[in-house]
Amino acid sequence: MPEATAVLVHLRAAGVSLLVEVADRRLPAVLHWGDDLGELSGEEAAALARARVVQAMANQVDEPLRLSVLPEQHTGWVGRPGLSGSRDGRSWTPWFTVTEVRLDDRTLSPGLTGSGAGTLTVTAVDEEAGLELGLLLELTVEGLVRARATLTSTAEGVYQLDDLVLALPVPQRAREILDLAGRWGKERTPQRRELVVGTHLREGRRGRTGPEAATVLHVGTPGFGFAEGEVWGLHTAWSGNHTHYAERIYSGEQVLGGGELLLPGEVRLARGDSYTSPWVVGAHGHGLDEVARRFHRHLRAMPGRATRPRPVTLNVWEAVYFDHDLPRLKALADLAASIGVERFVLDDGWFGSRRDDTSGLGDWTVSADVWPDGLHPLIDHVRGLGMEFGLWFEPEMVNPDSDVARAHPEWIMAPGERLPVESRHQQVLNLSIEECWTHVRDQMSALLAEYDIAYIKWDHNRDLVEASTRATGRAAVHEQTLATYRLMADLKQRHPGLEIESCSSGGLRIDLAVLEHTDRVWVSDCIDPQERRQIQRWTTQLVAPELMGTHIASGRSHTTGRVHDLGFRAQTAFFGHLGLEWDLAEASPEDLATLTEVIARHKERRELLHGGDLVRLDFPDPTVELHGVVAPDRSRALYQLATVGRSEVSLPGALVLPGLDPARRYRVQPLDLGQPARGLRPPAWWPAEGEPGPVLPGTVLSRAGLQAPALHPEQAVLLEVSAVD
Ligand code: DGJ
Repeated sequence: MPEATAVLVHLRAAGVSLLVEVADRRLPAVLHWGDDLGELSGEEAAALARARVVQAMANQVDEPLRLSVLPEQHTGWVGRPGLSGSRDGRSWTPWFTVTEVRLDDRTLSPGLTGSGAGTLTVTAVDEEAGLELGLLLELTVEGLVRARATLTSTAEGVYQLDDLVLALPVPQRAREILDLAGRWGKERTPQRRELVVGTHLREGRRGRTGPEAATVLHVGTPGFGFAEGEVWGLHTAWSGNHTHYAERIYSGEQVLGGGELLLPGEVRLARGDSYTSPWVVGAHGHGLDEVARRFHRHLRAMPGRATRPRPVTLNVWEAVYFDHDLPRLKALADLAASIGVERFVLDDGWFGSRRDDTSGLGDWTVSADVWPDGLHPLIDHVRGLGMEFGLWFEPEMVNPDSDVARAHPEWIMAPGERLPVESRHQQVLNLSIEECWTHVRDQMSALLAEYDIAYIKWDHNRDLVEASTRATGRAAVHEQTLATYRLMADLKQRHPGLEIESCSSGGLRIDLAVLEHTDRVWVSDCIDPQERRQIQRWTTQLVAPELMGTHIASGRSHTTGRVHDLGFRAQTAFFGHLGLEWDLAEASPEDLATLTEVIARHKERRELLHGGDLVRLDFPDPTVELHGVVAPDRSRALYQLATVGRSEVSLPGALVLPGLDPARRYRVQPLDLGQPARGLRPPAWWPAEGEPGPVLPGTVLSRAGLQAPALHPEQAVLLEVSAVD
């Protein structure tokens, strides 16, 4: 056998193989990312590497193309390069030579190294350009592929970095793209198209993740759905400007890529300076659910993730808006506690001169006008009722009409003397200025020290337009994003146990990087259940249900004006981190009784709801939605069937319940949430009230299915499924 010259690394975890080759000291190439290949011998892996070499074609470079995770033009790659930048126009096309390959803490020599999950660290240099590159490529225990790069300038002068993206190859059978679009109040709507030659480029230039962020850019075999088709997805874990792209070049090569979107001159590296890219995170699966579940498991295992049951929350925003009145809020807290709420959150309007959205933002001291005795009377009352207390902040923002803006106009992000256009009467505070960061941190920290605050609702209500450091005029979205993460981490470290919600005009800052520092996301300002179902369904493509704030609002939606039954509103909120956003003083005694039951039933099932595997069904009739959660040991599941419109046929088809163990038998029991679904026409198998439901084999439930009940539109039912053997 010829002596091996290439380093081959075969990582395997959770049904995924990642086979990486470092040959001829070139940057690592992914030879396979997809289904587990089983254990490979050194010979087999080398044969696979040979089998994957593409032949040189007419009118192409004379050497076979080997695409690396950071694609380089010198190889003949004419797609988007991994690195763009220059030293005053020179050194713009890098040629990196690998100097070391490590797997976890072992240095690798040529030949095959097999492992489970692991982190590959590749160090490379381009001496002529004066650059050093550190590439991390890992397979996580959940089967996610993560890649990140650190670029260091090692030469005199300045290297201006314009773009750094990392790319993962995907096979040519993946010809269909699915990613997300959206707008305020209608975040994360799916869109599909064919992957053709060219680039499907999704750029986020809002300085926040955005309602229309691709979130996860998928490519897959045509027609892929929640359970069907082979799918590769990629997420750029970054809350500032960012890119996702899918590219197919003339030769048929295809990649999924992503990275930070850098503004002109934003990253200039002097000798010894480094830039570290965000993680780009790839997920492979059979069906979108498998892709989503990898992200969910990863999020659940993140260091610092709260493991205690998610407290049922009442947020006062839609109940009182800026009308802060102690007796009214205390009465609201009484009602909340009486129906089982566990956390009470005071929203915008408690500080400075903030009586509406035109002034006071950025002055993080309790308003003496509205709260003459501070927040103590309210917090003591809430704590006395046995609930946690949460408080709203918007730490990165400022009203020009505020004490802080008057004292420090230089802290406002602006390209120079002129200010960016206002949005919600506000500007952005430049947290990359150390004194500004410390000022905000100290004001927040003082409040967290004085009061018993368990939770921050961390808001962020405008795009970062022309966001620069005013004194220099230089773009600063990159630094601002890092400073925000640092502020979150610092406050959590100073105040152990503090939880943070990522909110941004609703659901505009939802990504894996912010979720390293936060404990849940506010999914949308639109709580109309008809809209929320779509928003939540697609937010779960990345985010585990328990990390999504899902609230029950008043009957008439404040965003759309539509009216919905409490049953449908409660069903729509039931699977996530349950909460309320409603002036309970206006709820009827029947409503309060229903809410009490909903909350009790949710609490009884929190472990399943928040620890199980999400399943969504591609129901043949688009007016019917089915999703559920299945216990990891397959002993229990909870499914929800909802009607979101009126069908052209009178009966929906069979309910096939995904995720169950075909070898077990299960009882199927409708679960009442206190307000029965309207228009329910029960099928023959549906048990009479108080009677046990039928027992059926897992094969029947997951392959043949049960006749679905007919319901009026905008109604839902829950089915509890428990193994009987
Ligand atoms: C936007 C948030 O999404 C709302 O829930 C609320 O907190 C307002 N901001 C307050 O200004």
